[in-house]
Amino acid sequence: MKKVTAFVGTGRTKHTYYAVRRFLDNLKQLGGVECEIVALTDYQVEMCWGCKNCFKKGEEFCPLKDDRDALIEKMMTSDGVVFATPNYSYQVSATMKMFLDRLGFLFHRPRFFGKTFTSIVAQGIYGGSKIVTYLDFVGMGLGFNVVKGSCTTALDPMNEKERQKIDTIVSAHSKRFHAGLQQPQFPVPSHFKLCGFRAARTSMRVMLNENFRDFTYYRDKGWFEADYFYPTRLGVLKKATGSLMDKVTASMTGTRES
Ligand SMILES: Cc1cc2nc3c(=O)[nH]c(=O)nc-3n(C[C@H](O)[C@H](O)[C@H](O)COP(=O)(O)O)c2cc1C
Repeated sequence: MKKVTAFVGTGRTKHTYYAVRRFLDNLKQLGGVECEIVALTDYQVEMCWGCKNCFKKGEEFCPLKDDRDALIEKMMTSDGVVFATPNYSYQVSATMKMFLDRLGFLFHRPRFFGKTFTSIVAQGIYGGSKIVTYLDFVGMGLGFNVVKGSCTTALDPMNEKERQKIDTIVSAHSKRFHAGLQQPQFPVPSHFKLCGFRAARTSMRVMLNENFRDFTYYRDKGWFEADYFYPTRLGVLKKATGSLMDKVTASMTGTRES
């Protein structure tokens, strides 16, 4: 049984919830999945003030005391994670954004490897596809294997034609995600992901030291010597690309330091 948790960032149970519930029901019908909806509004999620203690010293030094760690734990104990939000002013809702900011340090020290991610956006008219692209990028930055999200469109009240269109979009999305859940958990990284890892780890190695949690985290994970975040078999071309990225990043960050 795979556990899928949807984190929903809206204050009302309308179109975003409609898409999420339908998505999760489809997954259950496709089989082997149990689901939970986490309404972010039921949790205390404080606004990040930008002290960067989490980046520099460690997340336990965050001055905010809220439900951040309980929400992260819910993600850690899931096989699949969905971030769902309405389109507010061409972006995620403030509820969702505050949650994402509380996860900021995890972009520096990603940990959701082997888990599958997707996004659901509900909009009235326009702009939601870019939010899907943004959230899918967020998922990648957190370490997830990302399945392309979906955007549904409806105005109040939703008419029958809109409902049918939404059902079709969500149905295709749930099939895509269900297939993603069955894929290898630790795939060979793309060139893009590999370069991202090598650039991050090399710049941390060159620019930071033991006084920084990012540095000690990477060191303790063995990431300064590793091919990638997790054990993988790189082909000749990717090995070469990785080494080149290490060298280029070292020379660029070294120059910045001097
Ligand atoms: C403050 C606010 C800003 C919005 N901005 C946009 C927008 O930029 N583009 C859009 O297509 N819809 C926009 N909408 C409409 C919502 O995305 C749409 O009603 C959506 O279905 C709301 O999701 P919900 O039913 O789950 O609350 C906005 C709605 C609100 C309340």
